[in-house]
Amino acid sequence: MNICVLASGKGSNFNNILQKISEGFLKSKVTLLISDKPDSNAVQIAHDNNIPIEIINKELFSDVKEYDKVFLNVINSHNIDLIVMAGYIKKLPDIVVDKYEHKIINIHPSLLPAYGGKGMYGMNVHRAVINAQEKLSGITIHFVTRDYDSGEIIFQKSIDVENDDENFLMEKVQALEYKYYPEIIKLFEEEKIKLKQNFNMSF
Ligand code: GRF
Repeated sequence: MNICVLASGKGSNFNNILQKISEGFLKSKVTLLISDKPDSNAVQIAHDNNIPIEIINKELFSDVKEYDKVFLNVINSHNIDLIVMAGYIKKLPDIVVDKYEHKIINIHPSLLPAYGGKGMYGMNVHRAVINAQEKLSGITIHFVTRDYDSGEIIFQKSIDVENDDENFLMEKVQALEYKYYPEIIKLFEEEKIKLKQNFNMSF
């Protein structure tokens, strides 16, 4: 598969996916990185690995429709099979989500629907989980739809929260991300994720 990664932050999941490709665990290629932050570590990683980079910054467009069109055209022109969101906070244009329905996945650092939605990303999630004295947290890998964090869930894995502070909880959750995000991508490579008529997932 040709994979497009969307990332704007540290890029550790992106880097982990590249590692799984170089180890031969994944057969796909990351053929495009889209980011809205030119100075992010994710962009540096793409640069270091000779991966084509497209920076699309919504703020630079006076016409939102133009931004949407550019976003769609960039993806269309790269022959992409799967779009993998890995730390990309901005909402995708509806025309992208509609055209690539069930071909865009995201990883979220909580057990959705808990602690999802606008503003719920990164440390905000872990802080909220700890403040609420949750006993469990974890990861959710899901399809991307028009609304934040609300597409069909493909996979979830939980961990005990114990007496973790937010940094330690983040580390534990990220360890799950590094293990399971590549495994789910592999299921897409092997066409093992099938959508039943009622949109329930089967593996
Ligand atoms: C991950 O924790 C993921 O759950 C969320 O964004 C974070 C990205 O981290 N969607 P990184 O940039 O891959 O290190």
